[in-house]
Amino acid sequence: MGKTIIVTGGAGFIGANFVYLELQEHPEDRIVCLDKLTYAGNLETLAEAMKNPQFRFVKADICDREAVDKLFEEEKPDIVVNFAAESHVDRSIENPGIFLQTNIIGTQVLMDACRKHGIERYHQVSTDEVYGDLPLDRPDLFFTEQTPLHTSSPYSSSKAGADLLVNAYHRTYGLPTTISRCSNNYGPYQFPEKLIPLMIANALADKPLPVYGEGLNVRDWLYVEDHCKAIDLIIRKGKVGEVYNIGGHNEMRNIDIVKIICEALGKPESLITHVTDRKGHDMRYAIDPTFIHKELGWLPETMFKDGIKKTIQWYLDNKPWWENIISGEYQNYFHKMYGERLAEAEEKA
Ligand code: NAD
Ligand code: TYD
Repeated sequence: MGKTIIVTGGAGFIGANFVYLELQEHPEDRIVCLDKLTYAGNLETLAEAMKNPQFRFVKADICDREAVDKLFEEEKPDIVVNFAAESHVDRSIENPGIFLQTNIIGTQVLMDACRKHGIERYHQVSTDEVYGDLPLDRPDLFFTEQTPLHTSSPYSSSKAGADLLVNAYHRTYGLPTTISRCSNNYGPYQFPEKLIPLMIANALADKPLPVYGEGLNVRDWLYVEDHCKAIDLIIRKGKVGEVYNIGGHNEMRNIDIVKIICEALGKPESLITHVTDRKGHDMRYAIDPTFIHKELGWLPETMFKDGIKKTIQWYLDNKPWWENIISGEYQNYFHKMYGERLAEAEEKA
């Protein structure tokens, strides 16, 4: 018999990709998306899913106990996958409160509902950022599941707080939980405040490409579909109580990513503008994915050179999706986050 899976945050970047993967790979399962539709949630992203009778969308806040309880009563889910979060580091530096609320309290509310109604699995989608950062001059170091949590930003701290709470609910109440900690994702439907889609959108408009500091910071990039496939494996075959690191051994410097985007779009590198660095900016993230490979046989399937091409093509083919976003409230955001930085860079030049 098919399972009922509640996917929170399914109107966002990774959650939506996961919804589509599940509908395609497990047509017998019912997928219920619970999403508050914050600035980062977009119902247009789920337009195709809405046509599938196995899919239901519910607009609600994961912090709203009553709404969450009602949904659990109606749907009696077998599995809950929690993607819902405030996810942008820069916003967490501006306004940490909402990160603690959604990322920690929201996780607690969901797990309380899981305890009350009984579920087969609660899966927490976490991040490699809970491990802090690695120095650039030690390429031999990687994050393993045993690396101590050591966070830098309000975002990563709120995610680490949630992870600790998940482990506490497993140990104290026996809740059947799993956690995955993934490196930076890229691919279709990513909100254009994150590095790759922001640079694509700006380059296409011949706007400055704001690189923080020297752009030497390293991220370990994974194509979003590979992340979703890993989560699919964990919720079906993963061991309760475990943490799984997910990453593709694909470390890249920010500046090199931006140059690749310029080249792919035929835009001059003179658009690259070095701006004031992010406060507390993590230097390097690098995941050791040995455990998930050995336990579940997972390996990334998309090479960066192919994934970035597909991603750029997706943004070219789906201009209305992101142009719609950047025409609204986003303008204020861009001005607030980049206005001063770009003016300073111009003065220096
Ligand atoms: P996103 O910002 O694109 O989407 C977040 C979604 O959550 C949106 O649809 C939003 O409306 C929803 N949401 C926010 N607050 C909510 C609330 N209180 N109640 C219900 N819904 C709410 O984020 P993303 O990049 O898709 O990330 C998804 C998850 O994966 C997050 O937990 C994030 O920490 C984690 N993660 C992201 C990355 C990455 O590179 N993007 C890497 C590792 C882990
Ligand atoms: P981001 O996509 O925000 O992901 P995270 O901070 O979670 O890794 O940023 C990726 C890297 O790109 C990070 O080192 C910050 C840098 N960056 C810029 O240089 N300029 C930008 O405008 C943005 C959004 C990010």
